[in-house]
Amino acid sequence: MAVIKKDLLGLEGVGQDELTEILDLAVSMKEVMGRQIKKVPALRGKTVVNMFYEPSTRTRVSFELAAKYLSADTVNIAASTSSAVKGESMRDTATTLEALGADLVVLRHPMAGAPHLLAKVGNFGVLNAGDGFHGHPTQGLLDMFTIREKKGYLKGLEVAIVGDLLHSRVARSNIWGLITMGASVRVCAPPTMLPIGLERTGVKVFNNMDVAVEGADIVMMLRMQLERQQQGLFPSIREYNRLFGLNKERLALAAKDAMVMHPGPMNRGVEISPDVADGVQSVINDQVTNGVAVRMAVLYLLAGGGSSEVDN
Ligand code: CP
Repeated sequence: MAVIKKDLLGLEGVGQDELTEILDLAVSMKEVMGRQIKKVPALRGKTVVNMFYEPSTRTRVSFELAAKYLSADTVNIAASTSSAVKGESMRDTATTLEALGADLVVLRHPMAGAPHLLAKVGNFGVLNAGDGFHGHPTQGLLDMFTIREKKGYLKGLEVAIVGDLLHSRVARSNIWGLITMGASVRVCAPPTMLPIGLERTGVKVFNNMDVAVEGADIVMMLRMQLERQQQGLFPSIREYNRLFGLNKERLALAAKDAMVMHPGPMNRGVEISPDVADGVQSVINDQVTNGVAVRMAVLYLLAGGGSSEVDN
């Protein structure tokens, strides 16, 4: 069963069976990554274009590695060196990429909905690598993969997501995915950083972090988007850290075997203390590694591969 068809634009509306099938396929991809020669011919002859209109380390590099491990040809475009700076529209960019023979386009863009627009006009598959405040589906998938890998399951786990939920596409994708998979999601943020109506997604909303993390199986910290501090959403970074930062004392309120997650890049000493980020409960580096496996899985599925076996 092919679980995603032409594009992966978001996790909203993606069902439990579909998510499970992607996560299962990513297990096979992680096995490929563990081989001495990390390469399968699955995407030989396919061209993957990585278009990043915003900075990225983890997502950009892992998409490129994922495509290379699957034997695709890869091309990277940064906004600053593309014809976008000359005013080329998304529609004309799509036509151009099509004429150049792109099979799959990975797009990160500051505007929510940009990947949807590209998918509508381009005759190639589109993978959303983060669009504005909307979504970051492969981050949500790699986070669920990491939780399932460590805990063995997702259903019934208590997941606390803490930080700037208003601006977080990572949080949105995780909420959609985790709720679908049967996890119980708590969110915690200052009232100025909580989107209106978030409780309608099925999450429990908290303003007090000590209460939010109590007994949690997973504590997922979000990046404090320092570039948005001029909006005055919080009095000071020191105050934010005091009320919403994860430190050893707060982590002790969570379940004994609670896992600490962060999508990166981290602001050490703001939303997370360095000893917790580097501590034994942290799976932050595993998240990065697993990003490659999950992106291999979605590239493979969008390129038309079935999810049964990865060719040797
Ligand atoms: N998590 C994440 O999207 O990181 P990058 O911005 O480095 O890709």
